[in-house]
Amino acid sequence: MRAILFGGLILGLAVAAALPSCGEAGEALVRGAASANGGESGIALDCPASGVLHGPWSLHFDETSIRVRWDACKKSPAAITVTPERGGASRTVEGEQTASEVLTSYDVVKTIAPDLPGTYYRTEVAVTGLAPSTCYRYELTAEKGRGGRFCTARTLGDPFVFLAIGDTNPAVGDTDGVLASVTDGKTFGQKPDFSVHLGDMQYYDSVFESYATWFPAMAPLFEAGALEPSVGNHELERAHEFEDYYKRLFGGAGFDGPVEYYRFESGGVWFFSLDTELELTPSSAQGTWLEAQLADAAAKPGFRFSVVYFHKPWITLAAYPHFPELRKHYLPSFQKYGVRLVLQGHIHGYERFIENGITYVVSGGGGAALHDLDASVATRPDEAKARIFRAKRYHGTLFQVQTDRLDGRAIANDGSELDAFSIDLGK
Ligand SMILES: [Fe+2]
Repeated sequence: MRAILFGGLILGLAVAAALPSCGEAGEALVRGAASANGGESGIALDCPASGVLHGPWSLHFDETSIRVRWDACKKSPAAITVTPERGGASRTVEGEQTASEVLTSYDVVKTIAPDLPGTYYRTEVAVTGLAPSTCYRYELTAEKGRGGRFCTARTLGDPFVFLAIGDTNPAVGDTDGVLASVTDGKTFGQKPDFSVHLGDMQYYDSVFESYATWFPAMAPLFEAGALEPSVGNHELERAHEFEDYYKRLFGGAGFDGPVEYYRFESGGVWFFSLDTELELTPSSAQGTWLEAQLADAAAKPGFRFSVVYFHKPWITLAAYPHFPELRKHYLPSFQKYGVRLVLQGHIHGYERFIENGITYVVSGGGGAALHDLDASVATRPDEAKARIFRAKRYHGTLFQVQTDRLDGRAIANDGSELDAFSIDLGK
């Protein structure tokens, strides 16, 4: 952790040198006071007239419903207009605002927009009565032109695309290329329905990144489809950060679990988001939950296979720890209950392994400074034999679920294809 912090500081200083000037230090932060929110220094938040501060994004979806969220800096209309992407009647859906006292403060770098403590309004619109296997556009009533896209869960047999991305650190400068390349729909001729985030969504430790700068930079991902995150170590960098940002804004993304771990389903494929900052040993609450939920999912009508995803990798050849004992323990359950793919972050790069019939992908190249992917080749011979491919590149990984196979494509920030593979699903 100390190495990460130190590395982040060096990186941040490097980024600072590359950033365009925003005017005299401090000047850019002193803006019109439009809300009671403010930091200890007396800086007032520049709350837009619409009240819409961060977002929107969507999460918590099934075949007929989804939740659209954004963060507001004052009481404002909590409604959206929803229209089928392929045309059809629009309708307006009302939501609600929940006021919270946010304690997190980040205003140490005077050239970037700060995160200020104060009263904020999590705004949520629960949209129900939707059609399965259907994508929609939505627009906020509070701000015309601001909105996004979401898709309901697929019915069985309907091919769909999803995205895996991790370690997004747009302040470093390469996340924009990654997001453009994985949301354009070119790889599979179909845009992703949703994204699974493999953790380390935002990096205060890169110094020049606040949530105020992060949210606009991540907008292409939020606008593309639902975001189903997992918890990384950088979600807990500062006091109150987890509660104020991850839990308040991204909590409740799925079903059947607490904020930290949960599951959801689309097209007979079950996804399990785990929290590697919590205990994951077999006897832990999370481990017990995982095995019970995997068994439950596998017994559902129409079950096809499961995908497990989390932040700190169980298998990697980078310098960071791996967890062979967890792979060994969960292998019987994974084989018995149809887990075919494990997605991991934390390592800033791309690795693909096949071990005991399970495909393990590291896809943590979402923008944070890239890692050496070969640091443990000599000391982890079993894992070295299992690694099929690696690429020290910024990227995201797209998957298309077909009737008989799962296709994967690692796509770089310049749009080039780094890796292509298929997992045979049989019938
Ligand atoms: Fe991490």
